[in-house]
Amino acid sequence: MVTLTLNGQELTLDADPAMPLLYAIRDIAQLTGTKFGCGMGLCGACTIHLDGQPIRACVTPVSAATNKHLTTIEGLATDGVLHPVQSAWIEHKVPQCGYCQSGQMMSAVALLKNNPNPNDDDINTAMQGNICRCGTYPRIRKAIKDAGKTMREHDKAVKS
Ligand code: FES
Ligand code: FES
Repeated sequence: MVTLTLNGQELTLDADPAMPLLYAIRDIAQLTGTKFGCGMGLCGACTIHLDGQPIRACVTPVSAATNKHLTTIEGLATDGVLHPVQSAWIEHKVPQCGYCQSGQMMSAVALLKNNPNPNDDDINTAMQGNICRCGTYPRIRKAIKDAGKTMREHDKAVKS
């Protein structure tokens, strides 16, 4: 049994502590937005946040999340309002097949939290572990820049 908080909800999962978080999230918690790509920490399809930091759920054991906060793509929206990254993804029609995209968005959210105004190099560096076989990288870069702009404007409005 492992107790953790998943998308704001405290859960006790009946899982082997050594089980990869990806399987616990998909098969036990039944949240299937996080995808299995390589299972080896190489493609980024399984990216989620552990206490706000991006991690690869396929190579992180459930035990690492004990008493910690996990966020998956299902937990990005707040009170039914999409995260600016999700809105920008829709605006720029980023996905092609879509398989890699929840991982891309989770990495993008983590990037923007640290750097709300990234240039192409910043984006390429931060996103290099997220592979897209459909080659949606140019749209990903545009959407990240747009989402960053929205977030900066929102912060400015809140502070003024
Ligand atoms: S499935 Fe986890 S990095 Fe590829
Ligand atoms: S949209 Fe198809 S793999 Fe990225």
